[in-house]
Amino acid sequence: MQKHHWLRAGLFAAAASAAFAAAPAQAQGSLVMYCGVQEEWCRAMSGAFEKETGIKVAMTRKSAGEIYAQLKAESSNPRGDIWWGGTGDPHLQAAEEGLTQEYESPANKDLHEWALAQWEAAKKRSVGIYAGALGFGYNTQQIKAKGLNEPKCWADLLDPKLKDDVQVADPNSSGTAYNLLATVVQLMGEDKGFDYLRALHKNISQYTKSGAAPAKAASLGETAVGIVFIHDAVVFAVQGDPIKAVAPCEGTGYEIGSMSIVKGARNLDNAKKFYDWALTPAAQALAAPAKSYQVPSNKNAPVPAQAPKMSDMKLIKYDFVKYGSSAERVRLLTKWDKEIKALPK
Ligand code: F6P
Repeated sequence: MQKHHWLRAGLFAAAASAAFAAAPAQAQGSLVMYCGVQEEWCRAMSGAFEKETGIKVAMTRKSAGEIYAQLKAESSNPRGDIWWGGTGDPHLQAAEEGLTQEYESPANKDLHEWALAQWEAAKKRSVGIYAGALGFGYNTQQIKAKGLNEPKCWADLLDPKLKDDVQVADPNSSGTAYNLLATVVQLMGEDKGFDYLRALHKNISQYTKSGAAPAKAASLGETAVGIVFIHDAVVFAVQGDPIKAVAPCEGTGYEIGSMSIVKGARNLDNAKKFYDWALTPAAQALAAPAKSYQVPSNKNAPVPAQAPKMSDMKLIKYDFVKYGSSAERVRLLTKWDKEIKALPK
């Protein structure tokens, strides 16, 4: 497996100012935003955009699979305008199914290659806004109390001493958990990957709805291990909780967090305004103060000091086109429901 250096440039991006020019907050219409990241970052984004433009934002936070399902359910009468955040795979599925629409932002010229790769894969219907690698967080006290060595690898999570003490989300609702499913299939091959998930199932206490929830549970000692994006575990480590974030030794997958405009958006002009603004360094700099430590897609945006160093990790060559395709997502999710979730413990 190769080590990728695709993010290197981003890791050395210069710090940029997060200051916004004061703008008159007059009534400028509205924007319905479906937000796929952590609530605090969603609020920071919707609030700053509203303040700067006067456009009233109605924001709801949901997991990636849930937003995809909502777009599909609303497709004959779209209610959302912009889908901002969440793993790239369901954005690609929505693009393929015509639930989102083409757009080319002038900001594209400032984006990292990986962000534009998402735009190209989606045939202009989605673009990368951040990146982050998959891994897990473990509660140092719990691991010690169980007499376990510190887990460093995916294989370590199968230890019988971790029975009912690992959490991960359900891949139907969560983009994080779908990223895990696609990662183990790519890393281990499909048969061995499903064997791994079957063995892991014995240690899972619950499949949560949201992807980052297991990080919080591990930080509180409610579970020994939470499988999450590494940046979601780092949030709790930097605030001093007894949690350690791990990039698994065998190698791991990563996400290209994405943004798409809803097909048939009622507030299309405002959706485009938001889209352009969300790609600016200043808007992307709102992440770190909102405790979100992903790598931003604009080359000139500051990379949070706490962001896990993806260039130091063993990353798989994640096939976003394949694993974001509608047929593959449906196939893998159906197989996971049938062969893993339905298993007795
Ligand atoms: O904001 C945290 C985060 O992990 C993002 O990096 C990611 O895109 C998203 O949440 C995934 O959330 P979920 O797994 O709930 O769909």
